[in-house]
Amino acid sequence: QQQHDICVVGAGLSGAVIAERYATQLNQKVLIVEKRGHIGGNCYDFLDPQANVRISKYGAHLFHTKHERVWEYVQQFSEWTPYEHKVIGLVNNTHVPIPVNIDTVNTLFGLQLTNSQQMDQWLAKEQVKYDHEPSNAEEVALSRVGPRLYDLIFKPYTKKQWDRDPKELGPEVTARIPVRNDFDGRYFSDPYQALPKRGYTAIFERMFHHPNIQVYTNVDYFDVRSQLDCGRTYYTGPIDTYFADLGWEKLQYRSLTFERQFYKNKDFFQPAFVVNHPYESADFTRIVEYKHLPDQPKSPHTVIFVERSSDVGEPYYPIPNQRNKDLFRKYQDMANKEPKVTFVGRLANYKYFNMDDAILNALELFDQDTQQQQKQRQEKA
Ligand code: FDA
Repeated sequence: QQQHDICVVGAGLSGAVIAERYATQLNQKVLIVEKRGHIGGNCYDFLDPQANVRISKYGAHLFHTKHERVWEYVQQFSEWTPYEHKVIGLVNNTHVPIPVNIDTVNTLFGLQLTNSQQMDQWLAKEQVKYDHEPSNAEEVALSRVGPRLYDLIFKPYTKKQWDRDPKELGPEVTARIPVRNDFDGRYFSDPYQALPKRGYTAIFERMFHHPNIQVYTNVDYFDVRSQLDCGRTYYTGPIDTYFADLGWEKLQYRSLTFERQFYKNKDFFQPAFVVNHPYESADFTRIVEYKHLPDQPKSPHTVIFVERSSDVGEPYYPIPNQRNKDLFRKYQDMANKEPKVTFVGRLANYKYFNMDDAILNALELFDQDTQQQQKQRQEKA
């Protein structure tokens, strides 16, 4: 049996933060096992060899945060290029800003709104008023934007994304969609928005480059578990896989497929990095063209990825319904009883985390666990 102070399952962001903290702050020996053939989890990016464009294997990743602690933390591992993400939607054959702002409604409905007050008044007239708290994704969307924007943008897009009628989805699905009462065309409003100059994978290489950290890729934890002797384990994989022996039902996820299209000797395919296609007749949700991002190498070609939502594939988005919420709680009760194991990250918590949430969560868990361990040592002494 091999002895390790700390074992980390998964070389994604959550596992990387835990490993980096234990190795650098407490001088502990950390073993990371990753079942995929690469580090970085879903943030993994690489150079498309044919197009010479850096692409993200598991979908576009834009870093944005309001947390000072996270922003400071990530400075250690990369230079960052300021980048404010903007999304364009093709609606009624016209390109409009997404999230909806004054420009979006002026273009779509032939209006001439010029300020926030006018936009608020217009929205108030559109919004559906309920005598109860909106209880599903459709009611939330209608109460926020009214039937016209709902039918043009939110309804077909949400349907394609989840393959379910918005009425069957929880209110949180559309509650997060931002609607602006100004001309702000940015997708995020966080104070820190940037991209790592040499990509995300380089950040992980930097984080793992430490004599206390050993990383094994192509190793499934469950194949080697019996050979490991770990002081403490941080598990960042799916919680239901960890408890597979119980034979309980699985948690459901929504996934994505990315259809790659290469264009030889073509400068750009579309006017922006991300173009959404909400309308029903398109069987895809959006097209991503990484060449628009800063710090890309020079290339005469381009490559695009046509995104479709799917029920099969990598587990990406937890499906927010009562069944899954109740089932997750059952798994969580088991996780709380598991000795010497901490469940961390998006898969173990069955929760969508942005990168900054994942980092903050891991930093705080490290603080909590190490304070607790210190207290236990003091009590023993
Ligand atoms: P992550 O899934 O990255 O890592 C878990 C790792 O554990 C994986 O590498 C997996 O292979 C490994 N593993 C699982 N089981 C194992 C086993 N049995 N043995 C060994 N290894 C195992 N965020 C953001 O801020 N801006 C954005 O633009 C985006 N965009 C985005 C797009 C898409 C499509 C998705 C799905 C997600 C985003 N995100 C995002 C979120 C971001 O990807 C997320 O915050 C981080 O990947 C979370 O990192 P984790 O380490 O928690 O999980």
